[in-house]
Amino acid sequence: MELQFSGVYNEFCDLKDKGLDLDSLMLSTSQLLKSGISHYDWVGFYLLDSQNDQLVLGPYTGAATDHTHIPVGKGICGQVAASRKTMVVQDVAEQDNYLACSIDVQSEIVVPILKNGQFVAEIDIDSHAYAPFTTKDEQFLSAIAEKLSELF
Ligand code: SME
Repeated sequence: MELQFSGVYNEFCDLKDKGLDLDSLMLSTSQLLKSGISHYDWVGFYLLDSQNDQLVLGPYTGAATDHTHIPVGKGICGQVAASRKTMVVQDVAEQDNYLACSIDVQSEIVVPILKNGQFVAEIDIDSHAYAPFTTKDEQFLSAIAEKLSELF
């Protein structure tokens, strides 16, 4: 992992070791990621409500969003819930199935949190930069998602 990522990852592991409840850990993680990685401008969690086949907004850091409930399949978040695969959109203007939060957002990465292979939640990150994400972001966020899945 790159230096910037490994430093933040270590801080995340320290946070996790504190034994916080899941909501507090997700909130602290969103704060840590937004402040620690310069191209992360909005960081939040969406949790699966399987009874209603929708995602529900969980803890987040950044501007308030209208998208508090997202049907599975809708937008980038909903597509990841359906596919259980990370999605990187380097230019949101080119994505048809996209739910806009703010005109400042140019790119987005969404990483699933899987529990025993089942989708339970996801990490959603918006960036005001164009095409800022690399495989380093994917590796870093997947490692965090895997650790968080232990708490679901
Ligand atoms: N852009 C997302 C919606 C959630 S916001 O980014 C907070 C999407 O297309 O699913």
